[in-house]
Amino acid sequence: MRVGRFITLEGGEGSGKSTNLRYLQTLLQERQIDVVVTREPGGTELAEKIRRLLLEKHAECLTPEAELLLMFAARSQHIRHVILPALQRGQWVLCDRFTDSTFAYQGGGRGMDMHAIGWLEQTVQGDLQPDLTLLLDTPIEIGMRRAKHRGDLDRFESEQYHFFERVRQAFLQRAQQMPERYRIIDASLPLSEVQLRIKQAIDALCADGY
Ligand SMILES: Nc1ncnc2c1ncn2[C@@H]1O[C@H](COP(=O)(O)OP(=O)(O)OP(=O)(O)O)[C@@H](O)[C@H]1O
Ligand SMILES: [Mg+2]
Repeated sequence: MRVGRFITLEGGEGSGKSTNLRYLQTLLQERQIDVVVTREPGGTELAEKIRRLLLEKHAECLTPEAELLLMFAARSQHIRHVILPALQRGQWVLCDRFTDSTFAYQGGGRGMDMHAIGWLEQTVQGDLQPDLTLLLDTPIEIGMRRAKHRGDLDRFESEQYHFFERVRQAFLQRAQQMPERYRIIDASLPLSEVQLRIKQAIDALCADGY
């Protein structure tokens, strides 16, 4: 049985996931909620090693199938060793990216079969789904401009504009298919406005009895 809540932040490059995860952590801690902050791909020792394989550039091309399977390999470790134990202890888990990113990047971006991704999701996660997913949505140009300020681009950040447009549309499509789990937030707004909307989403989640 799990008693904690599971919140994921999703969105494209530079949309503000990491920045707002820190805000969310503070917001929940002020409410005396015990939180675990983590990220994907990664979150455990082995999953962070897989993250490096996924994000670094290699002379050997990583096939789309290998990329997809590595994402779920890392996720399996993360769920078993970090996410489920924390939720079972009653902690809330805040995760920077989760399976929606796989549907968006490997499904939307790379064009891999969404049904195959759905099968992997079911196999690796069982009935584990986030209680709330905050989708930080920005036009590609804005997110890339923000991300570029941080320095060298990783393997995903080096993709072309059209790739990111497909990623964005796949995120939005999933959010529209499952409106009860998602809050779409216009992340091109000033940070204070974005955070106000995040706070409203958390208030609504807490008002639901958590
Ligand atoms: N609403 C906002 N307005 C202006 N700047 C912002 C806003 N949100 C985030 N930023 C800035 O944009 C940059 C990227 O933000 P952040 O690293 O949180 O994005 P991210 O979604 O985690 O990116 P990545 O997917 O690459 O990890 C940071 O310098 C951050 O301060
Ligand atoms: Mg980040």
